[in-house]
Amino acid sequence: MLRTHTCGELRISNVSSDVQLCGWVAKIRDKGGMLWIDLRDRYGITQLILEEGKTPKEVLEQARQLSREFVVRATGKVVERLAKNDKIATGDVEVKVSQLEVLNPAKLPPFLIEDETDGGEDLRMKYRYLDLRRDVVRKNLELRHRVARETRNYLDAQQFIEVETPVLIKSTPEGARDFVVPSRMNPGEFYALPQSPQTFKQLLMVSGFDRYYQIVKCFRDEDLRADRQPEFTQIDCEMSFIEQEDVLTIFEGLIRHIFKTVKGIELPTLSRMTFADAMKYYGSDKPDIRFEMKFVELQDLAKGKGFNVFDQAELVVGICAEGCAGYTRKQMDELTEWVKRPQIGAKGLVYVRCEQDGSFKSSVDKFYSQEDLKSWAVAMNAKPGDLLLVLSGEKNSTRKQLNELRLEMGTRLGLRNKDVYAAHWVIDFPLFEYSEEEKRFFAMHHPFTSPKPEDVALLETDPGAVRANAYDMVINGVEVGGGSIRIFNKELQAKMFSMLGFSDEEARHQFGFIMDAFEYGAPPHGGLAFGFDRLCSLLGGADSIRDFIAFPKNNAGRDVMIDSPSTISEKQLEELSIATKEVIKK
Ligand code: AMO
Repeated sequence: MLRTHTCGELRISNVSSDVQLCGWVAKIRDKGGMLWIDLRDRYGITQLILEEGKTPKEVLEQARQLSREFVVRATGKVVERLAKNDKIATGDVEVKVSQLEVLNPAKLPPFLIEDETDGGEDLRMKYRYLDLRRDVVRKNLELRHRVARETRNYLDAQQFIEVETPVLIKSTPEGARDFVVPSRMNPGEFYALPQSPQTFKQLLMVSGFDRYYQIVKCFRDEDLRADRQPEFTQIDCEMSFIEQEDVLTIFEGLIRHIFKTVKGIELPTLSRMTFADAMKYYGSDKPDIRFEMKFVELQDLAKGKGFNVFDQAELVVGICAEGCAGYTRKQMDELTEWVKRPQIGAKGLVYVRCEQDGSFKSSVDKFYSQEDLKSWAVAMNAKPGDLLLVLSGEKNSTRKQLNELRLEMGTRLGLRNKDVYAAHWVIDFPLFEYSEEEKRFFAMHHPFTSPKPEDVALLETDPGAVRANAYDMVINGVEVGGGSIRIFNKELQAKMFSMLGFSDEEARHQFGFIMDAFEYGAPPHGGLAFGFDRLCSLLGGADSIRDFIAFPKNNAGRDVMIDSPSTISEKQLEELSIATKEVIKK
């Protein structure tokens, strides 16, 4: 070992010991007679001290040649500090240097390697290996490591076996586009990278593995957002001989175990909400239930009073923003503009101020009497001082818009504290989702999800109304995981494919292997997958999952550090039997 201790290890009990430390120079302060160096490694920072007259001259000279981020090895004696620093764990001591060795000089980094850095996002991503030297970033990865460790501990204790599944596979139907890899040995043919190990984990159940998990990379070619990366990690799980209730119990247990061991937080039992209620009361399949502000439908009270906008609307629905009646005209105009932005898409916003004297002041006073407005306030459980915000229009889009407004008001009112965690299940998702664009049904979760037995008859008559044994776990408005009880019967699976518009041949071509497997004794099974990056960023209180991925991609799906994706040589293209642009042009 080049060192006796790490830079985070020395305490007052080490005083008088001879030590050797290795690390990076974080800071140098030269006051003429005295020179201090902050030496940093993964474990912390230790102060080195050199003194004119006491430190050998050549060592002092050497120290004066150092610069930030040089890699050095220091030998010396631990002494008690005169001025202690209670901000760092080693703050009671310093090391009186007798020998210095530069293990490697370094170029000046393009940004400060400190918690508060001067480097912008792009620069930090280009030099991600330097960004990762920063305490705050490294701590995120340490948290990620602990979450992975606790996941393994819990699942291992529950008899789950970690099995690796292949990365070069065939398209999996999770609804996003596949990343594909050309096969050199099979000209004109491609592998797809897994969007999830879905089909493999089901095959492992047919193999009798009974309880499987994997912390696994998944790949999806979809539009990127703060909580989406093209390659991300799942905690992927599957179990046999279980019902939905068993899956919910086991994985609620996992999340509670992680919160307890990693954050010291006892999560209460997770509440459950049906998809239908989630949409009705929150306009979202992943409601943030850290705060109430539930939707209240007002069409029965608001229609038929001559206000054309409401009269023609399928849905009139509002929320009550507590204590906001004092919003000024300017604030209301700003909020109205906010909901009218294209990202939200509302046509306008109706408001009612519940004044302290019990009267009401609204943007639709022309059409509604004080009695009318009072009936709205009663329906919405509003008190004097509250502000009612009402949207109207087509049911689904209005709900979506009000969901955005609710979240915005929650943020403005400070109701979305990152240190408060509200976790729950959303259950009874519809089996299908209808695409107006393509005029056909799509699987809402994936085609292996089973319908609720009591809804199977509706498959023929009203597919849109069929509910699935499918569930999502939502924490603070983030979908952290989701799964379902699977179809394990060949006929039902074939029916499902046909309802999704696959011909028999197409279904055979794409999923023949799983339909065949189902003929060899498939057990009843089900499972789910957690978004591991999302879970970590929630636990770490970050907005973007990028902060919890060692080498993430930017919003354009690029790794700016290694400059990927990139072109490949003509020779490679030829070997892969991929036509170059020139050939295509010809
Ligand atoms: P699903 O598609 O819901 O289910 O994915 C499971 C969880 O993975 C996370 N996730 C993502 N995280 C980061 N970036 C992405 N692009 C991304 N996409 C999804 C989410 C999500 O809840 N095979 C099924 C699971 C099952 O049925 O067992 C599946 O993949 O947190």
